[in-house]
Amino acid sequence: MITTSFTKLVGVSAPIQLAAMPAIATPELVAAVADAGGLGMLGAPMMPAAVLEGVLEQLSQRTRGVFGVNFIIPFLDPACVSVAARRARVVEFFYGEPDPGLVERGHELGALVSWQVGSLAEAVAAERAGCDFIVVQGTEAGGHVRGETSLLPLLSLVLDVARVPVVAAGGIATARSLAAVLACGAAAARIGTRFVAAAESGAHPSYVKALLASSAADTCLTQAFSVLWPNAPHRVLRSAIAAAEALTENVVGETHHAGEVVPVPRLSVIAPDKSTSGHVDAMALYAGESVANVTSVQPAAAIVAELVAGAERLLGYAG
Ligand SMILES: Cc1cc2nc3c(=O)[nH]c(=O)nc-3n(C[C@H](O)[C@H](O)[C@H](O)COP(=O)(O)O)c2cc1C
Repeated sequence: MITTSFTKLVGVSAPIQLAAMPAIATPELVAAVADAGGLGMLGAPMMPAAVLEGVLEQLSQRTRGVFGVNFIIPFLDPACVSVAARRARVVEFFYGEPDPGLVERGHELGALVSWQVGSLAEAVAAERAGCDFIVVQGTEAGGHVRGETSLLPLLSLVLDVARVPVVAAGGIATARSLAAVLACGAAAARIGTRFVAAAESGAHPSYVKALLASSAADTCLTQAFSVLWPNAPHRVLRSAIAAAEALTENVVGETHHAGEVVPVPRLSVIAPDKSTSGHVDAMALYAGESVANVTSVQPAAAIVAELVAGAERLLGYAG
């Protein structure tokens, strides 16, 4: 198996981190990736601390693998950070200035702390803030996109200066792209879009179907789905923007969140999961350019095994 500074630090056997994807990366998917040897990540924005505590308790019973919790800074609840740091191996942040106080809090409670960044300056700030590893995100990525540079140029800049392990994110969905970032010097790949189409994903079937039918050119970086989270560019399927703009109603469906049924406003950040009804095709169908390489629904373990075995072969591992 490929061993890197990331696999050793985090205690996993595969150099793969599942991207946190609220409602899509369900506990089932997080556990499946963790069981397969990767780092499973749970995204929990707007989840009350008591609910998060229960989810993490169930997750630790469900898997013997390693998992972490991701927080989006504009929606941060400090009580949830404390719950996560006590119960998960990794606490991670995205979409805000790296904050030494948050990093220290995570460390005090026993977690490793990471930050997903979109620029060299942010990577340097994350390392200075005390992060144990850094996730570098390129603009190819699906979901919310932090920076303005595509992965390889940014990764090269960060790898030249970083002393902590660096994880590459954005556009990685094949053994070839995993091998490429490892060869470049990254210690792991963070993968989102490919896992949206995993068998254990919580994504709505129509969302998965749209991914399977799409190519990289069918995605676009936009601010169209800004209701509930303005001024935050994101990569989605272009078809979703056209479908949402063709509707006139303010609410395009409903979905379950933390045990309640809530409306889905038109052009809001909410991605459709299996509990969602309404105009699913007009909701935020997040997708990276990696969608070009998403061609079938497979169990998460099969995806992890395919990527790792293929990367080993390409990188010349003897076995
Ligand atoms: C459906 C979806 C939801 C996402 N939600 C989050 C999130 O809550 N927090 C986060 O740090 N990143 C989130 N991301 C971005 C990922 O962390 C990662 O950067 C991206 O998926 C990598 O690109 P890829 O989709 O081509 O693999 C999301 C991505 C997708 C596809």
